[in-house]
Amino acid sequence: MSELVLDVGCGNNKFPGSIGIDSNPNTKADVIANLDQFPYPFRDNSFREVRVLHVIEHVADVMRTMEEFHRMLEPGGRALIITPHYTDFSSFCDPTHRSHLNSFSLRYFGDDNAGYGYYTKARFREIKVHVRLLSLWRYMGFEFFVNQSRWFRRFWEFYLCYVIRGKVIEWQLEALKNPVGR
Ligand SMILES: C[S@@+](CC[C@H](N)C(=O)[O-])C[C@H]1O[C@@H](n2cnc3c(N)ncnc32)[C@H](O)[C@@H]1O
Repeated sequence: MSELVLDVGCGNNKFPGSIGIDSNPNTKADVIANLDQFPYPFRDNSFREVRVLHVIEHVADVMRTMEEFHRMLEPGGRALIITPHYTDFSSFCDPTHRSHLNSFSLRYFGDDNAGYGYYTKARFREIKVHVRLLSLWRYMGFEFFVNQSRWFRRFWEFYLCYVIRGKVIEWQLEALKNPVGR
C-alpha cells in the first residue's frame, strides 16, 4: 500500500506531506508539468490519494484526466475532487475555466453512467458527493435538504438550482480496479 498523496494543480496550497504537480513554476509544486499532456510523470498504482481542488474545471479533457487519476491510484485509492457548481458566480466568471459541472457530471465513471458506459473504462465508486450552496441558502437550511438524498439533489439540479444556487461540489471517489491494477 502506498502512502503517497498527489496534489494535482496544487498552486500555493499544497496539501501537507503530498507531492504537488502544477504547470506554474511560481507555485509550491514539486513537479512542473502540463496536466493536458499525458501521461503524467508517475507510475501506475503509485498513490493512495489524489487531491484535485479547483483544478478539474481548468483541464482540456475531463474524461482523459480522470482516466489518468485512475491509472495513478492504487486499487481502492481515493480521489478528492472539488470544483465550482456551474450556477456559482465563479464558474463562468473565470475565463480560464473550460468545464462547468453539476453534481452528476462524474456519474459517467460509475454504475449509473446513463447508458454511456462506453465513454471510458475507468471506474470509480462514489463514496460521497456533497454540494455546498451560497451562504444565504445554506443559512436557510436548503443545503441540508439538497444533500439529504440523491433523489432530492437531482430534483434540485433539474428544477431549483438557478434560484437556489450552488457554490461548490465535492466528490470523494474510490478507484475500482481489477486485481492487476488496470
Ligand atoms: C484555482 S488554482 C487552485 C490551486 C489549489 N489547488 C487551491 O485549491 O488553492 C488552479 C491551479 O491549477 C493549475 N493548472 C491549471 N491548468 C493546469 C494545467 N493544464 N496543467 C497544470 N496545472 C494547471 C494552475 O496553475 C493553478 O495553480
